[in-house]
Amino acid sequence: MESSTKTQLKSIEEMVKTLPQHSLSWLKGKVTLYNYQGTWCNRMFLEGVNSAQQSFKARPSDVFLCSHPKSGTTWLKAIVFAIITRQKFDEFNTPLLTTMPHDCIPSLEKNIEQILENRHNNSCVTPIATHLPYNLLPESIRASNCKIVYIYRNVKDVIVSFYHFLCGIHNVPIEDAPFEETFDEFCRGISGFGPYWDHISGFAKASLERPGIILLLKYEDMKKDPTSNVKRLAEFIGYPFTPQEEKQGVIESIINMTSFENLSNLEVNKNGLQKVERLIMPENRLYFRKGKVGDWENHFTDEMNEKIDKLIDEKLGHTGLVL
Ligand code: A3P
Repeated sequence: MESSTKTQLKSIEEMVKTLPQHSLSWLKGKVTLYNYQGTWCNRMFLEGVNSAQQSFKARPSDVFLCSHPKSGTTWLKAIVFAIITRQKFDEFNTPLLTTMPHDCIPSLEKNIEQILENRHNNSCVTPIATHLPYNLLPESIRASNCKIVYIYRNVKDVIVSFYHFLCGIHNVPIEDAPFEETFDEFCRGISGFGPYWDHISGFAKASLERPGIILLLKYEDMKKDPTSNVKRLAEFIGYPFTPQEEKQGVIESIINMTSFENLSNLEVNKNGLQKVERLIMPENRLYFRKGKVGDWENHFTDEMNEKIDKLIDEKLGHTGLVL
């Protein structure tokens, strides 16, 4: 290991010791989150986040895919990858058939070394994804006019998705993980890359301040009307569909290719693992659970529903977003 890398790791180790910590009660201490500049992060992402903040330099042509975890990141990556590679591949030969969407589009906090190396070698620039909230994005991203796509999702389904995802990663049977505790901690802002409230309101505010730079996409709208949302997305990132492509059904074929039903049944997404250096990542199948709107109804009590509706109003009412 190079000595500068060693020094950096040592200083991060020192920094981590000073951060507030919280061990998720419903996972019996198996997961500890660290509060880094106001955001709760898993320990394994701190090097990546820190290194991205220090070294990543945005270019005007960059496109960033931003999201709070469990809001449809995997789906967005698949759609964007299919859009930008459609001249080369169709639904019969796209790399998405054999490669997990997270391996098609890198994440700032997970793959920073690979991203920096690619930049250094001037290799092809792909979109980059991140779960970082707006205020923690590397300064050069906020200062540049590169495009940002933010996907968000109804908080009730995000909580349910987060709950099952973490139980799955840590092999905790749901009978042993009280959902009320997940709900309670999440509402208090404690979740990976949370508070959810700050995450979503940060991007909503920035989208008003920087019109044309940030596109907000809602998971539920994409489910309801994928065609116009995929069209809007393609235009925004600079890959608009031609009238001829529309006639040929290219948009529909991208929607079908990237649908939950299709992706979740591919061998790579059923039994594969992401290829990330240094980090141990969840099995691919855990990123594909139900892919439905409204599963919260199977988990929430009336009391929880009332509480969260009040919180949505209180924390996000000012954003004008309808959740
Ligand atoms: P559920 O747990 O509700 O099923 P993320 O990718 O941000 O981690 O979000 C994961 C959520 O998106 C999971 O929700 C997952 O099932 C859903 N998802 C994954 N691929 C999808 C797709 N192609 N279409 C719709 N939803 C998808």
